[in-house]
Amino acid sequence: MDLKINLFNRKLKNPLFLPSGIINDIAGHQLAIQSGAGSVVLKSITLQPREGNPIPRVAKYEYGFINSVGLKNPGLKEAKKQMKIFIKQAKAPVIASVFAVSIKDFQVLVSEIAEIKPYGIELNLSCPNVEGEFGKAISNKSDSSFQVIKSVIKKAGKVPLIAKLTPNVEEIGEIAKACEQAGASAIAAINTVAPSMIIDIYKRKPILGAKKGGLSGPGIRPVAIAKIYEIYEAVKIPILGMGGVEKWQDAVEMMMAGATLVGVGSSVYLRGYKIYKEIISGMEEFLKKEHIKNVKNLIGLAH
Ligand code: DHB
Repeated sequence: MDLKINLFNRKLKNPLFLPSGIINDIAGHQLAIQSGAGSVVLKSITLQPREGNPIPRVAKYEYGFINSVGLKNPGLKEAKKQMKIFIKQAKAPVIASVFAVSIKDFQVLVSEIAEIKPYGIELNLSCPNVEGEFGKAISNKSDSSFQVIKSVIKKAGKVPLIAKLTPNVEEIGEIAKACEQAGASAIAAINTVAPSMIIDIYKRKPILGAKKGGLSGPGIRPVAIAKIYEIYEAVKIPILGMGGVEKWQDAVEMMMAGATLVGVGSSVYLRGYKIYKEIISGMEEFLKKEHIKNVKNLIGLAH
């Protein structure tokens, strides 16, 4: 059984990856790779350092997490140094992720990060916890998504751009299509389901410092599957799928919906890094039983 999968003309050892933002330190990214993830996406960075939103920034509940981290990160200058070293030594492809609230900042981020040659650059068009000149998340609309990608495409040079989309829209297919037309090499979906809120009934107030946040974890999987299914019908470029995957069955399901890669993020927090190997061996077993030679043959099977 062949678990290897092609993305951007390079073979990954398997379709699983660590999505952006779940783990924020290099050691954690290394551990994800050692534990079997075929690739990793780093936390989104911004031009200037950000302190992040008031604590608590993450809260667990029965079916996953809500978070409003507010893009806590050391900013481009420091992050670029750290990423450069990690990209060189990592034993799997490393995808960078950038976030901005203006076209100008996106352009600077993309051209600076392209210099250190990550495997790809994820354009985070969908952070629910920070607003800018676009007001709500950029990927709420086709035209702002198109505009941002178009404006950075030359700055990326040969580095593929991946548009990370919000699920909190009606027409995600249209938005994905606009990203493809603007030159994106792949779509990443879904970001967190937002807004979401949990109230502490004894303190009589919302649990998160920022009150509202984005929902992740097993509870959002059916939303992710539906959105990925829709995107697959709308575009030809590959989809980096994610949202609530915790078992091998979920990964198979997500590929059948149309994902080329499958992100496993919140579930690493809930069940540990061993989850990558568990999912991989379950998928292998499934392929064998179903007489499917190559994992890539699962992509879009549910259509
Ligand atoms: C944050 C949350 C997100 O879902 C995202 O895409 C980017 C950033 C955050 O709060 O840091």
